[in-house]
Amino acid sequence: MRNNQPANPVEVALDDHVLVVSKTDLLGNITYVNRDFVEISGFSEAELLGQPHSVLRHPDMPLEVFEDMWRDLKAGRPWAGMIKNRCKNGDYYWVWSNATPIRESGQASGYIWVRRKASPQQIQWAEATYTAFREKRSGRSKILHGGVVAGGLAGAIRQWLLNASSSQKIVLGMLVGLLLILGGRPDCSVAMSRMPWMYRVG
Ligand SMILES: Cc1cc2nc3c(=O)[nH]c(=O)nc-3n(C[C@H](O)[C@H](O)[C@H](O)COP(=O)(O)O)c2cc1C
Repeated sequence: MRNNQPANPVEVALDDHVLVVSKTDLLGNITYVNRDFVEISGFSEAELLGQPHSVLRHPDMPLEVFEDMWRDLKAGRPWAGMIKNRCKNGDYYWVWSNATPIRESGQASGYIWVRRKASPQQIQWAEATYTAFREKRSGRSKILHGGVVAGGLAGAIRQWLLNASSSQKIVLGMLVGLLLILGGRPDCSVAMSRMPWMYRVG
């Protein structure tokens, strides 16, 4: 785990129109950065190209976020979530990040990330959540697809629902419907005591 230092408590505020874009190869080595990226990070294009993206990692970012991100990307799924990045001089900026796998001629060839200014609510949520994970106060909660889910059975069900295909969800819906219909049947014992002629047993 890379520990880039120093980390100053100085936030760089992003303008509303800023789009911080980069591309990487399949290993996360930078192959493209746009102008906003260079301006905000403080690194030159030459310093960034060919480097692993962890060159931007802020020490406050918990490992679990990147594990979640790589799990989605390697499975071919896009990922969206909050990232705190470190500038070259140690200042930091929060971004709402969208990462997507790139396919060329049917083959996975790398990833593209588009980041934009995060809202104060998103930053507040990420500060609180990531601090809890860093300080091991998150209990059984997990980072999943950029958000947080409860651990245990409830979390496992939610995780399954988030990953399930549409046909799996339809089958589940039908099962739940069936259970509701069966659960809604009249109480047979009451019916049998009132209308014994309809329920001849044996
Ligand atoms: C396209 C792409 C963009 C990435 N952008 C960032 C980023 O902005 N900041 C960051 O800390 N990690 C970013 N990463 C994740 C890094 O590759 C790395 O997993 C992370 O910094 C943790 O590195 P470490 O565990 O080696 O310290 C990006 C990965 C990809 C594939």
